[in-house]
Amino acid sequence: MSMPQVLEPRLRHPAPSRGRTPWFEGDVAPEKVPEKYRLGRAFVPKTRYLDPEFLRVELDKLFTRTWLMACRTEELPKVGSFVEYEIASHSILVVRTAKDSIGAYYNACRHRGTRLACGRGRVGSFICPFHGWRWNLDGSVRLVLDREEFVPRSDDDLALVRLRAEEWAGFVFITMDPGAMPLLEYLDPIPRIFAPFQLDHMRYRWMTGVLLPCNWKTALDGFLEAYHVPGTHPQLFRPDKSNTHLATLKEIDNRIWSPTTSYERHAHYSSVGRKKQSAAAESAKDPARRETSGVTDERLAVALAVQYIHEDMRGLENERSWRAAEALKTADVPAGTSAGEYYLQLYRELSLAEGYDWPVITRQQWAEAGTAWNVFPNTILLPNQGSIFGYRARPYGPDPDRCRFEIFSLDQVPVADYGKPRDFRPEFFADYRDAGLGVVFNQDMANAQEVTVGMHSPSFDGHRLSEEQEMTIYNHHRVADRFLWAD
Ligand code: FES
Ligand SMILES: [Fe+2]
Repeated sequence: MSMPQVLEPRLRHPAPSRGRTPWFEGDVAPEKVPEKYRLGRAFVPKTRYLDPEFLRVELDKLFTRTWLMACRTEELPKVGSFVEYEIASHSILVVRTAKDSIGAYYNACRHRGTRLACGRGRVGSFICPFHGWRWNLDGSVRLVLDREEFVPRSDDDLALVRLRAEEWAGFVFITMDPGAMPLLEYLDPIPRIFAPFQLDHMRYRWMTGVLLPCNWKTALDGFLEAYHVPGTHPQLFRPDKSNTHLATLKEIDNRIWSPTTSYERHAHYSSVGRKKQSAAAESAKDPARRETSGVTDERLAVALAVQYIHEDMRGLENERSWRAAEALKTADVPAGTSAGEYYLQLYRELSLAEGYDWPVITRQQWAEAGTAWNVFPNTILLPNQGSIFGYRARPYGPDPDRCRFEIFSLDQVPVADYGKPRDFRPEFFADYRDAGLGVVFNQDMANAQEVTVGMHSPSFDGHRLSEEQEMTIYNHHRVADRFLWAD
């Protein structure tokens, strides 16, 4: 293969085209996008990652106009519980204002702008640390020292400035755009497709935040395709999980193919089986169809895959699914039933016996759910029954090569625990290598760093994406353009 030549993106990709990514009504015309940021066919110029000016436009027009996942309702267990949500230079307080309502305010004193609260905690009222002004949880002003000296200011003018906060499936989203469409409409079709997985009955197992030396989108991109699995995680092909750093040709031949499905705003990939067979594959992530990668004992292949994910990644699977997998290893699988189907049956029996609501998810529902969704703009969710993973990335300061990246693992709770508060504390590590994230996540984090170093090379002009398996990444940029350049 010849080395790529150093060429201007515009010369290399003269005719912007969506390739196989669909157009949607409301997409901006390519000529409205500044040339240096313009997408080509399956091509994303690196300027959209590396250029500080592009980050400024994102801060100005993308994060201020979209719905952003700020926290889970369980992080606000009591009236007065608050979480500070920071995104670049914006700090926002999300607070439980009453038993059944959650509000959000810009975290800035109306007097001279002081930040009112940091991190997370619980307050009876917000008190500015500078001159002691106070606000009720509903944002109305409670105390202004020497109020008569501030005659021109109405109480309305002194009230905290409110943002919209709405909930879906136990997540609290906020938007800085007063005119934004309602959250459920914005998330469409995710609420319908995720409904069988009951995310509202899930709670944090853990959440770990790290600083990464990469653009916030680079951190997400690594989780928006499974095309990297043979190159990055070859151990996932091997029942013994040996971690030699290259997949064999046979393993590559057995890889799972994961095409993209794009909706108006959000997109996902679906791991649908081996590429050669996948034209006929109608079912996406249905665990009953787990691949065996040529291992003769299908039971062992399924069981070891489940157990490895539980042990190494600490999410998506759980201790109960680990036990179901253990039972599968020696189970008498009835003729005509695959090991994957039988595993699901064992997992279901255990879950029902231990007090979980465990509806049967149809093949059609698994197929629509796919594997990993970009909840536009900066969250990823991996739907699954019982346990899910989520990721969130945010710019960190004005440097486009830095971001705050969080991984969270949620588990469904037994019916008896619905509504019960739990102790939960997210963890934060400045260096991902200190975070104990396991082999798979460390492989992904290392990629994010190396991609960034390489992108700075003058020889590199932008991402050349697979038109099937990496259109999740492309879709993000297509949708971003609607917010960045619409006016
Ligand atoms: S800056 Fe907040 S009370 Fe003065
Ligand atoms: Fe990965």
